[in-house]
Amino acid sequence: MDLSATTVYADGRFQRYDEAKVGLLTHGLQYGTGCFEGIRGYWSPEERELFLILLRDHFERLTTSAKILTMELPHTVDELAEITVELCLRNRYETHVYVRPFCYKAAEDVGVRLHNVPDAFAIVPIPFVHYIDPNRALDVCVSSWRRADDTMAPPRAKITGLYVNSALAKSEAVQNGYDEAILLSHDGHVAEGSAENIFLIRRGVLYTPDPSQNVLEGVTRRAIMDIAREELGVATVERSIDRGELYAADEAFFTGTAVGICPIGSIDRRRIGDGGAGPITQQLRTFYDRIVMGEEPRYESWLTRTYAGAKVSA
Ligand SMILES: Cc1ncc(COP(=O)(O)O)c(C=O)c1O
Repeated sequence: MDLSATTVYADGRFQRYDEAKVGLLTHGLQYGTGCFEGIRGYWSPEERELFLILLRDHFERLTTSAKILTMELPHTVDELAEITVELCLRNRYETHVYVRPFCYKAAEDVGVRLHNVPDAFAIVPIPFVHYIDPNRALDVCVSSWRRADDTMAPPRAKITGLYVNSALAKSEAVQNGYDEAILLSHDGHVAEGSAENIFLIRRGVLYTPDPSQNVLEGVTRRAIMDIAREELGVATVERSIDRGELYAADEAFFTGTAVGICPIGSIDRRRIGDGGAGPITQQLRTFYDRIVMGEEPRYESWLTRTYAGAKVSA
């Protein structure tokens, strides 16, 4: 993807992607000492509007991730949201977008640490390309890699270096003929996908690992629990989940900003339901897709309109 002409935000100003540089020895690159977010914007050709989804939730999580790494973001949540809107405007996007804000340790020297190293911050938007084929249920496996534990580096923070854990699991899964991996935590309970939270449905109830199970506290995860409760009257139980429960599920799906709601068709070659999107999964997905395209007025507060000049939503 040629990003050279893209306007990004770096070093406190808007500049072109190919003007913004990091040095080879930058700490964040060498040691993974950074944190980031992934935010999506959905382009509605009918409304000629780009809807940024749950912007504040993402920047609140970024602020928490930074705090865990003893970093301080140079902007408040409101300012970050405003900068993101302006970035999309400056790039005149008329397409779905993915926005990547990140904060990283910026010194160019040798010596791993968090203290006495200056922080840097940037936001890079790109036109969105599908992360996973949205039109079919995924064949997934339980990874031989375990999810990093909170006692090692907290997965509730979206920490750059932690994605080695995800990359090992994802590549192992794909190279073994699966679409995606499910990582168990060190004690053998279900944690999450390489870049998604996981939900199971059994006898009409939704289950997902609670936040103490070494999962990222997903923005989409929370949104889906709200939709399930408010629109379908389906409760979500947050608790630890055994591996065997994966195989016994009537339905299963991943959630994430990049993938939205993605049905799981099989786990370790055991078919889930009829191998496609189950009925509750499908209802949730349809409703979520309507929300992000601005078609559910009651959920307008989840959206930030880029072109309407509206204030960044709560
Ligand atoms: C490890 C991990 N878990 C879960 C998620 C889903 O989180 P969200 O819904 O906030 O995108 C992501 C994606 O950001 C992720 O990287």
